[in-house]
Formats: sequence, C-alpha cells, structure tokens
Amino acid sequence: FGGGALAGRRVVVSAGPTYEDIDPVRFIGNRSSGKMGFAVAEAAALAGAHVILVAGPVSLPTPAGVVERVDVRSAAQMHAAVIEASADADIYIAAAAVGDYRPQQVAPCKLKKQAGAELTLTLAENPDILATLSAQPTHPFLVGFAAETHDVATYAQDKLRRKKLDMIAANRVGEGLGFETAENALTLYWEGGSKELPRASKTELARELVARIAERFQRARA
Ligand code: C5P
Repeated sequence: FGGGALAGRRVVVSAGPTYEDIDPVRFIGNRSSGKMGFAVAEAAALAGAHVILVAGPVSLPTPAGVVERVDVRSAAQMHAAVIEASADADIYIAAAAVGDYRPQQVAPCKLKKQAGAELTLTLAENPDILATLSAQPTHPFLVGFAAETHDVATYAQDKLRRKKLDMIAANRVGEGLGFETAENALTLYWEGGSKELPRASKTELARELVARIAERFQRARA
C-alpha cells in the first residue's frame, strides 16, 4: 500500500442524479451534475483508497485511480449497486442526489397527450440507501450530503441523527454554489463537532473532505 490517509481502505462513492422513468422517452430527474461526487472519488483514490464509484446518468470521465465504476440510472438500481458494493467497504460516501420518488408505474408505451385534460402521475417513495445501510448491524462508516436552500445547519444535523450517519457534508444550493457549478462550500457535522470548508473548487473541497473523513474514520475505528 502507498502512504495515503486511506491506504488499503475500501471506499464506495455514489455520485450524480437518478432518473426515474415515466415512459420510454420521459423521466423525472434532478440537477445534480455528478461533479462533487466524482471529485470525491478522485480524492479518495489519491488518498490511497480502493474506490468503487456508483454513478447515476452523467457524462463525466471516470476519475484517475478509481478501480471500478458501476453506471446506474434509477434510484432502485443505485440502491442495489451501493448495497452490494458496500458489503465489504470501510467507508460509504453518499454524494448522489437520489430521487425520493419514482412513478408508481412505468408506462410500456409513450404516453399520449390528452388535449385539454390534466395528467396525474402517482409517485411511490424510493428506499433510502443510507438509512438501509445504517440499519444493518455492521456497515461502513457513513458519510451523507445535505443540499439545502435554507436552515442548512438545522436540517443537516437532523439528517445526521435521523439517518444515524457518522458525518454529513452540508451545502447551501443556489448563490452560484452547489448543483451544476464548479465551486462549492461545505460545512461538516459529526456527533459533537463541526468544520467549515470555505468556498473552493470542487476538487480542492473534495480533498479537504476526504482528509476530514479519514481523520474521523480513524478515530471511530481506534
Ligand atoms: O434526505 P436527503 O435526501 O436530503 O439526504 C441526502 C443524503 O441522503 C445524500 O447523502 C443522499 O445520497 C442520501 N440519500 C440516500 N437514499 C435516498 C435519498 C437520499 O441514500 N433515497
């Protein structure tokens, strides 16, 4: 093993949006670009980890050093891929923007417009990947992301406790930060502590984040 902070560790990173199909040509998605998650995967590899990247539908090249990339489309596929990859992982970093709902039924043929009429889509709730993992008796060190438009600290700390995470990385979306942007700013929370990572490129932030994760992980396992 090399000398990095995560040398010899197995790290799973999820990144990007999920697409929930409505019919063969339409879907419900979100504005995640995958850039933050891909930067985190690259930073973890740089820190010496064996990295598996589970990617939603994005057109980004696989970062240097990533050992395995699993491409998925829907939240259900991401759930299955992450659970499988996490079975023998030390750390799972959930940077994907997983759709909370999916159309209850996927229409086998393209839906036709009914002029003048409303269309109602019934949505079913998707399982929460982080919550599934944290409910398992043994599971990796869990890091979540919280993208919020307001009350960032309150929502992030609530999510940390509710999903029983080891760390959460919170960012305010909008104001030129967050989705579809090159820069971001994060506040990290864990039980009994927090740390501001000021505005920087996603590459720099990812390296900072991975350094903090390695530190907390080592304490948790010490
Ligand atoms: O509750 P919220 O969706 O805002 O939490 C965001 C965090 O939870 C992210 O780390 C995201 O990857 C994760 N998540 C998940 N499974 C879902 C929805 C979100 O693991 N179905």
